[in-house]
Amino acid sequence: MAEHVTLHDAFVDELRDSYDAEKQLIKALGKLAKAAHSAELRTAFETHLEETRGHVERLEQVFESLDEKARGKHCDGIAGIIEEGSSVLDEDFDEVTMDACLIAAGQRAEHYEMAAYGTLVAWARGMGHAEAADLLQATLKEEKAADKTLTALAEGGINQGAADGANPGDEKDESRASKPDASARSRQNRTIEAKR
Ligand SMILES: [Fe+2]
Ligand SMILES: [Fe+2]
Repeated sequence: MAEHVTLHDAFVDELRDSYDAEKQLIKALGKLAKAAHSAELRTAFETHLEETRGHVERLEQVFESLDEKARGKHCDGIAGIIEEGSSVLDEDFDEVTMDACLIAAGQRAEHYEMAAYGTLVAWARGMGHAEAADLLQATLKEEKAADKTLTALAEGGINQGAADGANPGDEKDESRASKPDASARSRQNRTIEAKR
């Protein structure tokens, strides 16, 4: 008879998921940094890219503390978030709109990670894996800080700059006002098609 799968097995499975997600994010953050127009936004992505390399190392330490092999398992969740976020890179947005969209994409990824690490910390603590819990908590803290930095940049002018460019009262510059709408529609259509 098959043995019951325990929370420990689920924990290791989630660790493998996050290990793969972090590796996918290393590639994605590099692309977001390159696409950013604001120097501050670029720095924010680059700083978090460095932290993300540390997240991979911390997960390796977690696996070691559990006597498990560090191994990834394809994370479909973050792959979807990255795919959707990267689609803005092909769009013909003005600079500030592009930056607003990059922030939106980055924050989706951070929230996904915050959810994953929140669960991992709770499970590690519940099962008495203190060392693993502390390592995972350190990463969770950096995910939350990265999310806050992106919020501060958005609220510090990037969103308003993008909104000003989309001002419908500015009818003289119709191409500028209508472009983001058309792009948003085409993105939406692609998403709908992908769901079918
Ligand atoms: Fe991370
Ligand atoms: Fe992150």
